[in-house]
Amino acid sequence: MKRAVYPGSFDPMTYGHLDIIRRASEIFDILIVSVLNNKPKTPLFSVEERVKILEEATKDLPNVKVDSFSGLLSNYAAENNLHVAVRGLRAITDFEYELQLAQGNRKLSDGHLDTVFLTTSLEYAYLSSSSVKEIASFGGDVSHAVPEYVASQMYEKFKQMKGMD
Ligand code: PNS
Repeated sequence: MKRAVYPGSFDPMTYGHLDIIRRASEIFDILIVSVLNNKPKTPLFSVEERVKILEEATKDLPNVKVDSFSGLLSNYAAENNLHVAVRGLRAITDFEYELQLAQGNRKLSDGHLDTVFLTTSLEYAYLSSSSVKEIASFGGDVSHAVPEYVASQMYEKFKQMKGMD
């Protein structure tokens, strides 16, 4: 059984992430999409909300499971007997950070955790969770980037935040 983990912040999941998930789920027998529970960052969506969004988006993919983790990815991988991490590469600008992450994970895992890169499909290569959040915060159209139920949750969150000003 070939298992892999696709770790990320997924704040929120975009069609770019979903594209990587779909393609990786065809390569691996089991794909675990795992949301980083990173306290120092202030995410727009809670871990529970991000997990729920991913579960909804992947409900037609039976070999995809959604989980969350905190701390080091290498520790999470070791605890769950996972030896492959999947990451998407959109452009050369992603490369330096991704290389560092991949090398760091190999080092921290004593060579037990390797990273496999999938190049993001061209139609999603411009997407990032941050730009989607910025567009949504100004009430712009994000239907090209996220499913409708994610867009409406984002608009609602920004509406509430503006109400607090
Ligand atoms: O979606 P992102 O924010 O680009 O994902 C980054 C992620 C979650 C893959 C990365 O930040 C991560 O694995 N963090 C966990 C902490 C860790 O293991 N750091 C050491 C990396 S060498």
